[in-house]
Amino acid sequence: MNATVIGSQLGDEGKGGVVDLFSEDADVVVRYQGGDNAGHTVVHDGEEYKLRLIPSGVIRGKTGVLGNGCVLNLETLFDEIETLRTRGLNPDVRVSSRAHVVFPYHRVLDRAEETSKTDEDQAVGTTGNGIGPAYEDKAGRRGIRVGELLDETVLRDRLEYTVPKKRRLAEDVFDVDTGIEFDVDHLFETFRAFGDQLQSEGMVVDAGSVLTEMARDGANVLFEGAQGTHIDVDHGNYPFVTSSNPTAGGAITGTGVDPSAVADGQIIGVVKAYLSRVGSGPMPTELSEESASRVREEVGGFGTVTGRPRRIGWLDVPMLRHAARVNGFTGIVLNHVDALGGFEELKVCEAYELDGERVTDVPSTTAAWARCTPEYRTVETWSDRDWSEIRDDGYDALPDAARTYVDYVSTELGVPVYAVGIGPGRDETIVRRHPFDSSED
Ligand code: IMO
Ligand code: MG
Repeated sequence: MNATVIGSQLGDEGKGGVVDLFSEDADVVVRYQGGDNAGHTVVHDGEEYKLRLIPSGVIRGKTGVLGNGCVLNLETLFDEIETLRTRGLNPDVRVSSRAHVVFPYHRVLDRAEETSKTDEDQAVGTTGNGIGPAYEDKAGRRGIRVGELLDETVLRDRLEYTVPKKRRLAEDVFDVDTGIEFDVDHLFETFRAFGDQLQSEGMVVDAGSVLTEMARDGANVLFEGAQGTHIDVDHGNYPFVTSSNPTAGGAITGTGVDPSAVADGQIIGVVKAYLSRVGSGPMPTELSEESASRVREEVGGFGTVTGRPRRIGWLDVPMLRHAARVNGFTGIVLNHVDALGGFEELKVCEAYELDGERVTDVPSTTAAWARCTPEYRTVETWSDRDWSEIRDDGYDALPDAARTYVDYVSTELGVPVYAVGIGPGRDETIVRRHPFDSSED
């Protein structure tokens, strides 16, 4: 039995908490794309854990796998492992030998390209972690994979081919100064050492085979998406996207399992009860800065990785319809319902007006999406309250208006609600159904 957890909006839907919760019945939790651009917060027993790379399930002591679709900043990886160890955990993390490595020059080039775009107002607002340039090199067949760190000759050959080109790109095209980030000998020493460390800790695996074997032996696999559907490089609002596929297909190509392992399992869309965005790009339901700053005060709307203020908007149902179709959601989790308590007015965008026409889905070009104006429905508000009482009493204890809101989203998407988030902690989510519980099928 497998389940995949996917962000249905623009990232930061609260996937980390959902993965942590559902991983109770999982044996292994797998990241299939992205890198340390993700920021997943897990709160347990009053302790807050912030993870960028390690799958959220490791907090529960589950095996965490970073699949071939990921790009790995090994410094972040070992820092996170060390931090968890100092906090008394014993993280069991495996990495695919096919996963690509993020090098320091990728980060320099990421920032250089963003800076060059700022003049033309085209900047994506990346997290600056070198994610785009690492995927560029993967697709350009000049990337370096984890398995290649373990072989001195191969590593040196690959660096000697790639790095001089990267240095010229940085200096000649982007006009930036280059330092040790582009020094072959330095990179060779540093990344050979990472390779040794990965090997001595037994972390490098052929993840596709390992996962297939585990699943054959009856293991429950939980695929953990990072980012979200609308910043997917194919299905999001290109070019204001990340460079990987957070959508369900990514869980297949990004891990090397049989497609049915994902497609025949549960595919859970995580939906934030409102909308937020870090980085640039259109956002039809965006609130004015004045209203957004008030919401931010309430909900702590700052990026986990970058600390940037999140842009805030009303729930956008056309975006969710697009996500439900692309991913084939079998259920949703509606998060942050508590955050909307106490609003004087609540609106949801049901459709857009685009060039005089009513449209109910997201247009396939970003320019057209930017021209969309929302058609709103005003919905009943609910007051803020002591959510811990509701947590104890369950779904029926939710305020009527909040339940109507949740039911509305579920009906629009035609899928059941697996859980409702009313706070950041593990026990602040009302679970109606566990994805690994087959008894209700
Ligand atoms: P989680 O997993 C929100 C956004 C960046 C930028 C764009 C490209 O916490 O939901 P990148 O560094 O990936 O090249 O940046 O994508 N972005 C995220 N936004 N949550 C995330 O991850 C994000 N990861 C990337 O802000 O607009
Ligand atoms: Mg996040």
